[in-house]
Amino acid sequence: MSGANKKVNLQPFYCIYMFRNKTCGELRLSDAGTTVTLAGWVQRVRRMGGMVFIDLRDRYGITQLVFDDASDAGLCEKASRLGREYVIQATGKVSERSSKNPRIPTGDIEILVSELNVINAADTPPFTIEDNTDGGDDLRMKYRYLDLRRPCVRGNLELRHKMVMEIRKFLDNLGFMEVETPVLINSTPEGARDFVVPSRMNPGQFYALPQSPQILKQLLMVSGFDRYFQIAKCFRDEDLRADRQPEFTQIDCEMSFVEQEDILQIFEAMAKHLFKSILGIDFPEPFQRMTWQDAMKYYGSDKPDLRFDMRFVELADVLKGHGFGVFDSAAYIGGICAKGAATYTRKQIDALTEYVKRPQIGAKGMVYARVESDGTVKSSVDKFYSQDALQQLKAAMNAAPGDLILILSGDDAMKTRKQLSELRLKVADELGLRRKDAFKCLWVIDFPMYEWSDEENRLMAMHHPFTSPKPEDIPLLDTDPASVRANAYDMVINGIEVGGGSIRIHDSKLQATIFKVLGFTPEQAQAKFGFLMNAFKYGAPPHGGLAFGLDRFVSIFAGLDSIRDCIAFPKNNSGRDVMLDAPGPLDQSQLDELQLKVDLKA
Ligand code: AMO
Repeated sequence: MSGANKKVNLQPFYCIYMFRNKTCGELRLSDAGTTVTLAGWVQRVRRMGGMVFIDLRDRYGITQLVFDDASDAGLCEKASRLGREYVIQATGKVSERSSKNPRIPTGDIEILVSELNVINAADTPPFTIEDNTDGGDDLRMKYRYLDLRRPCVRGNLELRHKMVMEIRKFLDNLGFMEVETPVLINSTPEGARDFVVPSRMNPGQFYALPQSPQILKQLLMVSGFDRYFQIAKCFRDEDLRADRQPEFTQIDCEMSFVEQEDILQIFEAMAKHLFKSILGIDFPEPFQRMTWQDAMKYYGSDKPDLRFDMRFVELADVLKGHGFGVFDSAAYIGGICAKGAATYTRKQIDALTEYVKRPQIGAKGMVYARVESDGTVKSSVDKFYSQDALQQLKAAMNAAPGDLILILSGDDAMKTRKQLSELRLKVADELGLRRKDAFKCLWVIDFPMYEWSDEENRLMAMHHPFTSPKPEDIPLLDTDPASVRANAYDMVINGIEVGGGSIRIHDSKLQATIFKVLGFTPEQAQAKFGFLMNAFKYGAPPHGGLAFGLDRFVSIFAGLDSIRDCIAFPKNNSGRDVMLDAPGPLDQSQLDELQLKVDLKA
């Protein structure tokens, strides 16, 4: 997804001065004979006999410049002294190359340079600016401005730009209006920690940066902007992972006078439009929908990767009661069938067992059963199970000769399912079932309203406290709140949550009940969210929405392992910008002005 083939208009009608009149990506054989001026960075200098060849690079591509000793020895000498990443301007005639380079779009031509202007010298860069040399992560991040010169990295940002343009066009066509909401606000209820900013004019008081524009977009609905969107910066102080940055971008959307179905259809259409316009991929069928309950039951995850099946099969009925203590005492026994994986060696199976036993996953062990080519089953617990019993296992798992059955058990069904989910992903990785050029989109719906927090010792909102319960579950709020389902949904692509949202509560009485279930006293609820509840008293329309993680969307389209690679200036895993060296301490004078004292606990 590089800009190399893109033709840009460098000479709009209002341009009176031309530093260059062509880019390094656009000249072709049909331009031969014309005189052009290019500007860019020196990628490579080669001297061959009496000639100097320079690869000149700009955002659009690479063009070969040629200097000939025979026609201008001084100019040729000047060219041979250029170093990597010098910024130059060159004028010359486009000419057909004798040895063409089919690997680049400009490979048929070269420029016979007649004028060379060295605009800026450059120190030798710490790594070569090429796609496949990056000098390692630390160096790349420290010199991100150089890393961004590499076509592959630049391509990710070009893709991001294209996606944002398509999104804006799509939403604008449907009457969505982009409204900017403030960044200096107070706490928003997305469940992470806030980044805070001290206020000089209000000593001892702090703004919080928005974890999302959630409350503000709901207030915009009260104001009557019935279709809102914003490409919004969000800030969350949480543990970082490959798909999480402390500062990230949402495509934040909200609509009034809608039901869940309206939202799912509009944003499914937006996703399909992106797939079609950016990647040329059609999804003629509606995206699959799965309840949260089923996602957890069959895949142990609220964001199952459905590029492959490997659904869980519950095996208590088949495996209990044969004298194998681990299974007999388990609350849950589940298996997956890895098609064609019976060739796994003992060593590979041991490595899988070690994998699930890692503290991050926490399984106690793993049982396996291989279906041999003659249909018999060999398992790691053969001494407890007759061939008849193992044949029942094979039937339950729908396994065939050549398949490998992997089984986990535990005394907590939810925990064991999550462990089995990790195993499922690991095996799929090993079997090459998670191809980056295959896309499987899914809506997970009917999330529970609440989840229990051991840390807080209370129920917490699974999405956020403004999410509306399913109307039919409202009576359960008093009797069995943990079983109440929400009108909440996530869009999942290839096992990654790309977006999530809900229908909101627009009734202040129901909102007050929800706060009560969450353990807020009326006073606490009023202090924290009073402005929203008050706003609801002045005519709140029914409304709902969702937000996509733009960084995640782009990285899925680009086939990246981390969202960092589609963010111009990302943070590292400790939340630092190593290029800017941020965060950093404040000067004493700034602290004084803010009336702050830093007292670091050891
Ligand atoms: P949620 O918290 O699910 O919902 O966030 C919406 C989407 O934002 C992305 N996302 C992130 N991306 C990168 N780094 C992060 N740290 C990060 N955290 C979240 C995910 C996620 O699906 N206000 C609600 C939306 C709504 O209800 O309308 C919200 O923020 O792709």
